[in-house]
Amino acid sequence: MQDILKIIQERHSVRAPFNPERPITRQDLRQILEAGRWAPTAHNMQNFEIIVVDDKKVLEEIGNIKSTVSDIFIQENYQQLSFSEEELLHKKVGILGTMFPLSWRTPGVKPIAEEGRSRSFPVCPTLLIVLYDPSKRAPASEGDFLGIISLGCMMENLWLEANSLHIDFHIVSSLGSGPVEKEVKRVLAVPENLKIAFTVRLGYVAAEPQRTLRVRRDIKDFSHHNRFGNKIID
Ligand SMILES: Cc1cc2nc3c(=O)[nH]c(=O)nc-3n(C[C@H](O)[C@H](O)[C@H](O)COP(=O)(O)O)c2cc1C
Repeated sequence: MQDILKIIQERHSVRAPFNPERPITRQDLRQILEAGRWAPTAHNMQNFEIIVVDDKKVLEEIGNIKSTVSDIFIQENYQQLSFSEEELLHKKVGILGTMFPLSWRTPGVKPIAEEGRSRSFPVCPTLLIVLYDPSKRAPASEGDFLGIISLGCMMENLWLEANSLHIDFHIVSSLGSGPVEKEVKRVLAVPENLKIAFTVRLGYVAAEPQRTLRVRRDIKDFSHHNRFGNKIID
């Protein structure tokens, strides 16, 4: 049994390709879903459904669906990127711009032919497609705000459990909107009333990935004592 804080601190995103020949065992999958099952949800609505995709043909079909990076992504992405590890260490929030092709991290720059604007995600043996029903909201929760927080709680449970089993985990948001979502829903025969909340790539990295710098604000940067602005003295 690992210490829970250690599991939380070591949980991380793995964006590299996974070994397509190393599937997640049934037992591990069950354990990950069990962790999701016990997530707290507003009003105990349990407002999610999860499709486990491990059929190679279906994975390929989903993998072939191309999404396009929008101008709004490029604009908003640019605003929170850092362009060196020093800058990221100083800012303590956001991610490194070098993760993206030049034209995706620079507003106004036209993509060079090979990078284009289309994106697909790296291979993996298992995908979890997490769905929710926006009409099943917790009482009086405007914009289903509480339901969406609940999905986040569920996501974290899946993630911590997977990482504690040494299974790599990558959230992919790009399948959850526009024509891409429609196409994924068609491939998986998802009922009309359900929306894709997020997708998870699960697996084991194919090759040792490059180290990625992970930063966080210090506790004193976001905590306040009794009233906003009063610093907690360490
Ligand atoms: C709601 C949500 C959506 C995310 N969407 C993506 C995504 O589409 N692609 C991606 O590579 N990472 C995605 N991430 C991962 C975050 O970028 C990542 O958690 C953050 O940069 C901190 O890095 P860490 O997970 O390694 O600690 C998402 C995370 C959350 C919570």
